Amino acid sequence: MSAKAPATPSTVTFEVNGRPVNAVKGVSLAAALVGDRVWTFRRNPVSDEPRGPFCGMGICLECEVTVDGRPGVRACLTPVRPGMRVETAGTEERP
Ligand code: FES
Repeated sequence: MSAKAPATPSTVTFEVNGRPVNAVKGVSLAAALVGDRVWTFRRNPVSDEPRGPFCGMGICLECEVTVDGRPGVRACLTPVRPGMRVETAGTEERP
């Protein structure tokens, strides 16, 4: 089941880099972002390579994003909430 969803009572709307996104209630922020085809969550500080979720369980730190101004939030461990403001370090890659 895709995390991407139209706005219904069972969805939440939040913001990604200033853009409104709908996701199914209860999914992780990482699932909601991938469901919206956002793949670059952060960039490697040395190589500047795009990074995205890998382990899905809080170990690799590749899914860190900024949530409501707080950097370093692991998206795979964070439930998506209505109105949360998410910033990724990547450009909007939405293949
Ligand atoms: S995907 Fe590895 S810490 Fe989130």
